[in-house]
Amino acid sequence: MTLSNKHILIGITGGIAAYKICELIRKFKKSNADVKIVCTPNSLNFVTKLTLQNLSQNEVFVQEFDVKNWKPEHISIADWADIFLIAPASANTISKIANGISDNLLTSIACAFSKKMIIAPAMNFNMWNNEAIQKNLNRLRCRGAEILEPESGFLACGYTGKGRLCGVNKIFDSVIEALKYSSVLQGQKVIVTAGGTIEEIDPVRYISNYSSGKMGLAIANSAYNMGAEVVLITTKDCDVPYKTIKVKSALDMQKVLNEEFNNANLVVMAAAVADYRVKNYSEQKIKKSNEETLTIELVKNPDILTELCKHKVNQIVVGFCAESENLFENAKIKLEKKGCDFLVANDISRQDIGFNSDENEVIIFSKEGNVQKFDKAPKKIIAREILEWINTK
Ligand code: CTP
Repeated sequence: MTLSNKHILIGITGGIAAYKICELIRKFKKSNADVKIVCTPNSLNFVTKLTLQNLSQNEVFVQEFDVKNWKPEHISIADWADIFLIAPASANTISKIANGISDNLLTSIACAFSKKMIIAPAMNFNMWNNEAIQKNLNRLRCRGAEILEPESGFLACGYTGKGRLCGVNKIFDSVIEALKYSSVLQGQKVIVTAGGTIEEIDPVRYISNYSSGKMGLAIANSAYNMGAEVVLITTKDCDVPYKTIKVKSALDMQKVLNEEFNNANLVVMAAAVADYRVKNYSEQKIKKSNEETLTIELVKNPDILTELCKHKVNQIVVGFCAESENLFENAKIKLEKKGCDFLVANDISRQDIGFNSDENEVIIFSKEGNVQKFDKAPKKIIAREILEWINTK
């Protein structure tokens, strides 16, 4: 793949693996990318500015107040870059950027950067396993950063364990992958629903289902990484860098969807919406009676997907369906009955995929009769495959 016109910013922090980045810069340059390097002062103990300058064929940035034009350096460099790769990322820099500390040029750029960030940590294995570092990495993941986990092996500190910078080829491929997809949904508003709805019985009890919301979250994350403006309507708590609206019941979800729907381009209904809700919600906790049985009357919830499809103008609407038998037949019937453009079907009778799992295997049907199977893979991969496939149809 040629990377002409792509602007790659590489942040190098103080760690022995810094020397490996020289090879990476060469690979990007050979693919015609425009590469700029920002170094922490400590990283220059491991590689020289001159080496990096020669390899990147660009000035290497270190000092924050070495101002050359009217725009502060950390802002103009952040504006220039299509992607920000930090490799190797030390425990110190990871913790600083996770907490918004901006005490050098690299951390200031990270703070001002709103596009795709890839972080490749490298450190001693005890530092890697430190709870504080893992928490900070999770904070960065939640903000949309991709973390390329270190590998296990012999470490420069003399120990063996997890902490080696992952392979240069893996970093290279991840950057290419991210750049390839980064603008596929640019300018589009994508609404995703996720999680099982909660239908309350009384102030302490409810009816719900086992949906974890992971598939919907993966779709929302992928859409965001593809450049979309994302609105995630979910029953689960999540910390993400785009708009989320937390809801409980099917009726709440429908109300919010209706408010967001008009200017949407794509709606993905990955939520497991309860088909029924309690007819008479009890304001007070229902007390145990002397009877052996208790009957709770349920009434049908609106079918949100069907209602949306009745009112859609240019929006593309995608439904999900969870089936425990006759997946093909049931999916085709549902697609037609609900009136959506696509239906993603998964088999919930399998323990290794779907509900609560981190992996999925799906078959997607289009209203034109196209069918595509995506083999078992992490939900993150399946999510991207679904969005890409829909986008080409
Ligand atoms: N759905 C919806 N409103 C409902 C029920 C389902 O919008 N009241 C949506 C789901 O978000 C999903 C699709 O319809 O995108 C299919 O959901 P599924 O539970 O598989 O189908 P149901 O219509 O509920 O049919 P059944 O439970 O009988 O299989």
